[in-house]
Amino acid sequence: MSADSTRAPEIEALLVEGRTFAPDPGFAARANATAALYDEAEADYEGFWARQARERLSWFTPFATTLEWELPFAKWFVGGEINVAYNCVDRHVERGLGDKVAYHWIGEPGDTRTLTFRDLQREVNRAANALRELGVRRGDRVAIYLPMVPELPISMLACAKLGAAHTVIFGGFSAEALADRINDAQAKVLVTADGGWRRGRRVGLKHHADEAVASTPSIRHVIVVNRFGEGAHMVEGRDHWWGELTARQSDQCDPVPVESEQMLFLLYTSGTTAKPKGIVHTSAGYLLGCSFTHAAVFDIKPDDVYWCAADIGWVTGHSYIVYGPLANATTGILYEGAPDTPNWDRWWQIVEDYGVTVLYTAPTAIRTFMKQGEAFPRKHDLRSLRVLGSVGESINPEAWLWYHEHIGGGRAPIVDTWWQTETGSILISPLPGVTTTKPGSATLPLPGIGAAIVDGAGNPVPQGGGGFLVLTRPWPSMLRGIYGDPERYRETYWSRFPGMYFAGDGAKRDADGYFWLLGRVDDVMNIAGHRLSTIEVESALVDHPSVAEAAVVGKTDDLTGQAIFAFVTLRAGQAPSDALAVQLREHVAYVIGPIARPKFLLFAPDLPKTRSGKIMRRLLRDIAEGRTLGDTSTLADAAVVDTIREHSGQAED
Ligand code: PRX
Repeated sequence: MSADSTRAPEIEALLVEGRTFAPDPGFAARANATAALYDEAEADYEGFWARQARERLSWFTPFATTLEWELPFAKWFVGGEINVAYNCVDRHVERGLGDKVAYHWIGEPGDTRTLTFRDLQREVNRAANALRELGVRRGDRVAIYLPMVPELPISMLACAKLGAAHTVIFGGFSAEALADRINDAQAKVLVTADGGWRRGRRVGLKHHADEAVASTPSIRHVIVVNRFGEGAHMVEGRDHWWGELTARQSDQCDPVPVESEQMLFLLYTSGTTAKPKGIVHTSAGYLLGCSFTHAAVFDIKPDDVYWCAADIGWVTGHSYIVYGPLANATTGILYEGAPDTPNWDRWWQIVEDYGVTVLYTAPTAIRTFMKQGEAFPRKHDLRSLRVLGSVGESINPEAWLWYHEHIGGGRAPIVDTWWQTETGSILISPLPGVTTTKPGSATLPLPGIGAAIVDGAGNPVPQGGGGFLVLTRPWPSMLRGIYGDPERYRETYWSRFPGMYFAGDGAKRDADGYFWLLGRVDDVMNIAGHRLSTIEVESALVDHPSVAEAAVVGKTDDLTGQAIFAFVTLRAGQAPSDALAVQLREHVAYVIGPIARPKFLLFAPDLPKTRSGKIMRRLLRDIAEGRTLGDTSTLADAAVVDTIREHSGQAED
């Protein structure tokens, strides 16, 4: 981040000092977590998780075996039967919490809805009965492509109630991306909406859904939420309005008991190939991971008003807007829209209006707010905030300190939480009230989690050194595989370092053993906390008729962490032009979704390759970053690099 003239002198000082933040004794005295948890888990991690599973979850049949581990395949809580929706909703109503608010929903235009746990129970039951009417049974897959409306968590829970699995596709994805995921999952039903509000505009979804469903033979029915209260193109016999379909259902629905390892959901994420991976999560272990970490890391108390400002289309929303908070009977905020609509203080207005106590967001959002200046948060009373979270990428110390000072009032502890779609729940993070924090470090593995840093040969790196982040033990919320591809699962995560899970991240530990995450070590980019593979964007570019070859790298970006930089060579007869650059960038947005639109695009007459024909990304990264070039001796044609560099001034969008 460039120097900001409004930066307070004390932040300057803190940056220089490399200060640490010890827990406040008052906070520590009331904290959910204690240091004893680490000792208990270290002595017997299976026993620790078994105790948590008995205390936190409600079982129809208790489990007999805590863990069956045949590397790399884990089964947790074997013999147990559970229902995730029952754990998230019904049991709270049964114990008298029916009137407690589950979600305060806020639409971008200012419309609101309040759902108590009893309301949520009725809505989930109606939706579950509707899905059943459309033929959904235990083990089936349901695709969900919705904006941030209450029907999104309701649909997920309705699937869970029936023992069916959902696959949520982020509303920003294209029709093609939606169709690929539906086909991989072989989903029977699609739940979508006419659209949602974003930056004061209506963003349509139904036309994408229609386009996708034209090439998804497994989809038999489409349920459409009517967000705008107007008509939409409906296909007779296939499409059903959510309102009409659910209104005729009973609001009673018995939960279907499923075994612990029943698939709860599939969530697609980018890997190092063009084909996204369907990450499989199952029921009991996943729910336990979410529930335990939500309670311990955010120090959740019964009267908290908790807000995770992610989109439910990503794993953060699955685990920390839906499953973790609901399992813990927490009151949450669900906000549909953009942070700058109508003004840059929209979030702070929400915090003040609802008395939000815990806020969980991403560094890219924090840096964006920083750029707008502290006048916006200062307009509002943010004193209710008592814990702040960060996720998605390393938070730079400057943003950490700004968050601490201007949002947390210098009081609220910050939890920098490291995890992945694959890990299901937070694995490396401070425990507020227990851990002394250092701005920029995710600190230490949570109780029960085994994490280490190894060198290229898999040997532990001494403290102070850097290397590859690995996980050394199974954990309850770990992915159970890549849908339909056990070989790819083994290969991607478990083959690089035998016996260890390879996270794909570089990291170092300091002299106190604290973990500092250093970013991806593979061909995965992290754009505003979202994962995209370079190859996915390359294939979208090559899909355009004028492109011969493309190479994509992540370029450091002040706001989004990384930005997409594409190098493109054109087919014979095609001439580079600004108009074509715009067209190609739009083409990627069309094929994958707007999040994948390259920020920079450079036409290159040729790409630098080794003599064996491999594109030298390292050199391209250097060019994108404007760095002095490293070793070019293995290049087949060294002149290529000079030509690209001559052009590189023209790349900016
Ligand atoms: O590189 C790490 C980064 O995000 C990746 C996981 O991305 P995804 O599966 O989309 O999940 C994002 C939300 C959990 C990781 O491999 N990452 C996530 N959190 C952090 C992080 N990097 C550094 N610090 C974090 N706190």
